[in-house]
Amino acid sequence: MSAGHDAVRIIEAKRDGRELDDDEIDWIVDGFTRGVVAPEQMSALAMAIYFRGMTDPEITRWTSAMVGSGTRMDLSGLTRGGAVVPTVDKHSTGGVGDAITLVLTPLLATWDVAVPQLSGRGLGHTGGTLDKLESIPGWRADLDASEMRTVLARTGAVICSAGPDLAPADRALYALRDVTGTVPSIPMIAASIMSKKIAEGTGALVLDVKYGSGAFRPDPADARELARVMVAIGAASGVRTSALVTANHTPLGRAVGNALEVAECLEILAGGGPPDMVDLTCALAAEALSAVGIDDADPRDRLADGRAMDSFRAMISAQGGDPEAPLPRAAHVEQLRAAVSGPIQWNALRVGRASWLSGAGRTRPGEDVDPGAGVVLRRVEGDHVRAGDVVATVHANAEERLPGALAELAAAFGAGSDRGPAGAVAERLRSW
Ligand code: URA
Repeated sequence: MSAGHDAVRIIEAKRDGRELDDDEIDWIVDGFTRGVVAPEQMSALAMAIYFRGMTDPEITRWTSAMVGSGTRMDLSGLTRGGAVVPTVDKHSTGGVGDAITLVLTPLLATWDVAVPQLSGRGLGHTGGTLDKLESIPGWRADLDASEMRTVLARTGAVICSAGPDLAPADRALYALRDVTGTVPSIPMIAASIMSKKIAEGTGALVLDVKYGSGAFRPDPADARELARVMVAIGAASGVRTSALVTANHTPLGRAVGNALEVAECLEILAGGGPPDMVDLTCALAAEALSAVGIDDADPRDRLADGRAMDSFRAMISAQGGDPEAPLPRAAHVEQLRAAVSGPIQWNALRVGRASWLSGAGRTRPGEDVDPGAGVVLRRVEGDHVRAGDVVATVHANAEERLPGALAELAAAFGAGSDRGPAGAVAERLRSW
């Protein structure tokens, strides 16, 4: 690390719109990680970046400085059945009803690849993969690095939480961004996501970058720019990266909520399930496989013939879960009836909020979630209904949560033209 920098000069430089050089970026990220740069200084810099942005070279350097703040795993020699296999992972920028990871990870592992999926928990209206899987009795998210490698080598698939050594600068910076109104900065979102994926050691990556009301950045142009920047970081970091920009104006699938989404994934793994989720899962699988040089794959076959289900069961059992155990169910279920007739629309953000209000989500990190709570849509975007038809159900264990969740769900529902399914792919960008 170079001497001679000081945080105030770097904040002023970005405030005034100057491009930071490699040395300044390395210095400030390292200083923040070691506690030499104060949180209020890093917050000010985050706000300056929010308004001034960063060039692609700055974003790439920022990302590698965050990777360098912790340990970078090396999965390059990972073997399955005695042969070295390529690694490929997936990330979604987060949407409502998005449980694709639960199906995609074991589906990909039916090929000779390994899928190291480090996931997070939900906060606010989008759910977290780990919360969903924790509704399976016995399943454990917290594996150490050696357990993670063992599960990967045995089953080709692992979904677990990230350890404290994985890009610690990102963890600390995200906490500051969260309380300073600086989360929705495209350079910082891109660097945050990519630093964790690069640090986990994956060789290839497929990104599902969402737009629409359920997404982080509702505007499709913003989603496209986020996808472009992440693909550029992948290219500069030696990770073969593909991004699909996909719709989340209406929820993906029919279920929103932890065990409810797991149940829906089991339907897909049994060869059925909602067509929008199946289509997006297969599109992402084809991209992921292409990134590791497998171009003639037909993911649908492996959902239909049970291979993906076998892979899911192996992955769940390897992490202590019982794939045969009944999933938790909520004690109370209420119906929502249509207030209008006609073709219908659902607002993804409001459906996500209704699920959160039913108890499926958390307000603060560390809170418990209700595994059985959530929403099931009986009729989806574009369906024709008559006033009085049942269009959705709300599920909750805490009965007092039902009125608020139902009111939000009623506000999510409306008549209108069909805007097309969730998961429709608007654009594809590749680093190769
Ligand atoms: N997800 C992340 O990991 N980081 C962000 O900044 C936003 C979403």
